[in-house]
Order: sequence, then C-alpha cells, then structure tokens
Amino acid sequence: MAATASKPSDSPCTLVLCGKSAAENEIAKSLRDNAALKLAENDGVSVLLQSELDKPVEEGSFRVDSFVKSLSTNRFGRFLLWSPLLPSTHDVVSLNFGQLPVGSVCVADIQYKGRGRSKNLWESPKGSLLFSFTLQMEDGNVVPLVQYVVSLAVSEAIKEICDKNGLPFVDVRIKWPNDLYLNNLKVGGVLCTSTYRSKKFDVSVGIGLNVDNEKPTTCLNAFLKELSDVDYKFAREDILAIFFSKFEKFFDIFIDQGFQALEELYYKTWLHSGQRVIVQENNEDKVVENVVTIQGLTSSGYLLAVGDDCRMCELHPDGNRRKKKDSSLQEANYHWGVSL
Ligand code: BTN
Repeated sequence: MAATASKPSDSPCTLVLCGKSAAENEIAKSLRDNAALKLAENDGVSVLLQSELDKPVEEGSFRVDSFVKSLSTNRFGRFLLWSPLLPSTHDVVSLNFGQLPVGSVCVADIQYKGRGRSKNLWESPKGSLLFSFTLQMEDGNVVPLVQYVVSLAVSEAIKEICDKNGLPFVDVRIKWPNDLYLNNLKVGGVLCTSTYRSKKFDVSVGIGLNVDNEKPTTCLNAFLKELSDVDYKFAREDILAIFFSKFEKFFDIFIDQGFQALEELYYKTWLHSGQRVIVQENNEDKVVENVVTIQGLTSSGYLLAVGDDCRMCELHPDGNRRKKKDSSLQEANYHWGVSL
C-alpha cells in the first residue's frame, strides 16, 4: 500500500497519555512532567494527560475512555498514548521503548509516514485502526513467530465481536507471513521489529486494520454492510480492547507451550493449506521454477512445502508481490529458501 498523507502544519504532534489504573496514570504524569517522550522527527511533541484535557476531541477521534473502560487485560494495552496525527505509531513505541511500561500501546487516527514491511509506506487514512505496542521476549528463536500470534489474535477478535453482537461471520484470514485478508483483499498488516537489549528482545508490534476506511482496498464495515442489513459498525476501540484480551491469552500459551499449541487454530485461519505455488530456485547459474504444495510452517516460522518431485523445502517471503503466471496456481510471492 503506497501513498501517504503529509503533515498539515508545523505545529508539534500531540500525544495524549492515559492509564487503566492509578499506577499507570502516575507513570503518565511522570513522563509528561519529565518531557521524557520524543518523536522520530526533531520537531517536538506536546504531551498531555487524558484526565486534564479541557476541550472535547474532534468527532471521529479514537475514544480513549471507551477503550480503557472495555479493556480487561493484566498487561497489554493498559498504558495508552493516543494522537490525532503522527508520523508513525511504530516510531513512537520503538523510539521510546525504554521509557514505556511493557505492553504500552500507541494509537493514531492518521499517520503521515506509516511504515509497512519491506520499507513500503502504509497508507493510513482516518477510519483505520493504527496502533503499535511493546513486548519483551527472552528466546530469540521464537521472536520471528510472534507476528503469527498477533495475526491470529486480530482474526479471533473480529470473530468474537461478530459472535457477541449476533453479526454474520466476518472471516478475516491470514496471508502468510503478515497480511490480513478479507474476501480476497488485503484489509490489514502486521509489522514486528526487534532490538536486543539487556539480555531481552524489545519487540515493537505494529498493526494497521481497515475498519471504516474503504480506501485503499476495502474495510470491515463495508464488507459487513454488503453482507447484511444489520445496523452495526465495528468500532476501533472495541476491536483494540478485544484484540489485547486475545493476544494476552495466546501470548501466554505461545511462551509456555510453544507455537505448536496454537498451530491448529492458525492453520484454520491462514489461506495456505494445500495451496500450490510456483517458486523460483537459484540453481548454480540458472533460475529453475518448481511447483510446490504448502504443508505448514517450519520450526523457524518459514513455509514448509513439498515439490511434485517429493523434495521438501522451506520457502521464504519476497519483499514485494510478483504477478502470477498461471491462473491455476497461487500468486507466488515466495522463493525457494532451503532444501530440507
Ligand atoms: C505490512 O506491510 O503489511 C505491515 C503494515 C503495518 C502498518 C502498521 S499501521 C500502525 C503501525 N505504524 C506503522 O507505521 N506501521 C504499523
């Protein structure tokens, strides 16, 4: 997804801080009083506390109170930074990682330098749910798998909202490695970046989900409207609160029992079981094309596939989408990684 909004004025971006409990609100106060937060750009940031806002926020802004009230987690999402306009929520959490409690989330209504995977820009118009949060992990071997746990939690959160509200099933599926698809169109994406510090991996997780913005592809609310005439709209605050409940539960399972404990649900949610794709293999000086069938994930989180010649291999993602050459085969944006 390309294209981006530009910063409309030279005035500094605003960050509004809010905690779920008194302890988290004390942290908010201390960060504000010590001017401890910064933005990627050197143009300053104005930090306010939600409890001290003296005028109502603009119509359509993220409803901080509603999110905090709905949130029922012990760790994730309890410290919130909200802004009407930011370069990128991902930059905010990555840059301020050490100052923020683990599990803090930054939400923006609009981003003008939204980051996608492979250095792509992430189009971030009003109506989309744009957030990044912090987590820490000790085992570097499983850090690459956490993005799958995140995607699963998004899909399950949407399902739970549909169930709770008697809505038709909005089937958000995972396109490996980090895309969220609805009805063959990309509606969201996950970006995870990490740094190693003090014997831990500081992981910044960013998610963009088209909730009420029909551009640039489609969005959950447009899909729901087409599916039925129910008078319901997904709200970003509900999705975020339920996402964190799901994620907290899945993350504990993932850390305690490994990704295998979530695999069955993951394979039900992704788009790839039994999928046949053409992949390119570099063989000495030549590029050879192979047809392979996807079997699942390898232990390191790549795609496990078997060729028509029964050779097993690991597929790696390509940065950008390639055109499919044969309509009976799926879009092949992977390449042959390792023969197994
Ligand atoms: C992808 O390339 O599919 C991943 C896109 C991730 C976009 C989100 S939007 C919120 C957060 N802030 C960013 O700058 N990027 C992530």
